[in-house]
Amino acid sequence: MNATNRTFTMLKPDAVANGHVGAILNHINKAGFRIVAMKLTRLSLAEASEFYGVHSERFFFGELVAYMTSGPIVAAILEKDNAVADFRTAIGATDPAKADPGTIRQLYAQSIAANAVHGSDSDENAAIEGAFFFSGREQF
Ligand code: RTP
Ligand code: MG
Repeated sequence: MNATNRTFTMLKPDAVANGHVGAILNHINKAGFRIVAMKLTRLSLAEASEFYGVHSERFFFGELVAYMTSGPIVAAILEKDNAVADFRTAIGATDPAKADPGTIRQLYAQSIAANAVHGSDSDENAAIEGAFFFSGREQF
């Protein structure tokens, strides 16, 4: 299957710390995504800064990088037709207060910073982000 059918996600430190990993993975599977690669890991400051480099000039960058390095995360590559757009729909708006009912962020996020999950915003970024965490032989 080609990159168009894959997206990349992280279950962020709040989701892991609050014990929501199982529920969120269940939600992801029930929404029709297949897990192609997955690991529990922790980002260094340099890794988080590189991963979110597109936001380096934004006012929230310092808070974002500090937050994303504050504890372990679960990184995963997901596969489904129309994966990027369908996953963005499944997670809901960046601010959980504005996320639609039943979305992952509405159900499990704490705040706009601690918003439970990341989802790639394009096919190109899904491929870049997946490769940031996983080699080809770690993707099934
Ligand atoms: P993500 O990349 O994590 O999937 O989130 P997103 O596309 O919905 O939002 P984006 O604009 O890419 O922002 C990346 C992450 O930065 C944090 N953020 N904090 N304090 C703030 O106003 C603020 N705005 C964004 C969030 O953790 C957001 O997910
Ligand atoms: Mg984003």
